[in-house]
Amino acid sequence: MNYYDNIAQIYDQTRWLTEPVAEEVADFILELVCATPETSFLEPGVGTGLNVLPFVRRGYSVTGIDISEEMLEQFRQKFNEIPPNLKLIHTNASHLPFLDNSFDVVLTVHMLHAVSDLRAFLDDINRVLKPGGFYLNCQWITPPVRKEFEDYFRAILAKYEGSKQESKRINAAIQEINVEEYFYSKGCKSNYFVAKEWTVKNTVRELLRFFRARAYGLCWQVPDETFHKIMNEFEEFCLQHYNSLEEVLSSEAKFEIWAYRVV
Ligand SMILES: C[S@@+](CC[C@H](N)C(=O)[O-])C[C@H]1O[C@@H](n2cnc3c(N)ncnc32)[C@H](O)[C@@H]1O
Repeated sequence: MNYYDNIAQIYDQTRWLTEPVAEEVADFILELVCATPETSFLEPGVGTGLNVLPFVRRGYSVTGIDISEEMLEQFRQKFNEIPPNLKLIHTNASHLPFLDNSFDVVLTVHMLHAVSDLRAFLDDINRVLKPGGFYLNCQWITPPVRKEFEDYFRAILAKYEGSKQESKRINAAIQEINVEEYFYSKGCKSNYFVAKEWTVKNTVRELLRFFRARAYGLCWQVPDETFHKIMNEFEEFCLQHYNSLEEVLSSEAKFEIWAYRVV
């Protein structure tokens, strides 16, 4: 079972991309790829559709793949009826079930770390893109105060788990470097963009609730009993560190894109 099945219902509220921000990011992407009404999009690891919902609403052809049926179900629930320009496929995206030259744009957002063979996955992305098509490797950067909040949690977690989490983070970073190298070796031009910066606000109490719900990957592998102890310690820490659990933490988030135009 994919852990996202467990958190699908609360996924959107625990992340920081809102629908109005996604609309502005979509404007940026449409201009970047010089979209025409025929431009087609594929998002492997589409989740609840936060990134591609604006494209669907504007009538573009969108295909989303996800290994979590519950995440796809959350996406479906955003429509009264699934529009004909949206195709959702429940499968492992490690092998893309499409013919060569099928899409104008492939985007991935926070999912590359989840594929078992990154090189094979990138080969597949390259294969299903039309010549002159775009691969957009995107991330919404964690707002600094939320990152700091996460680091406080991580410090308590490390007391129970040693260096396990740290090595996972290093592996993810190594994979990111490989994307750049991969497309460079294919002779692709790459460009970096910040599509949008915006302010995210949460109370400490809300963030604690998200952690209690195990909304983030760093909480998933921890056994229940240990997790319960960690959360009690973390809440105690927050009570002392912040003025109150109602304190609002506010900082800037970013939607970043590494764009590769395939030749
Ligand atoms: C962090 S979420 C990102 C969802 C969405 N891209 C977003 O930005 O909100 C990762 C998503 O990738 C999906 N996923 C992970 N591994 C996958 C795989 N091998 N094939 C398809 N989907 C996968 C998960 O089920 C989850 O919905």
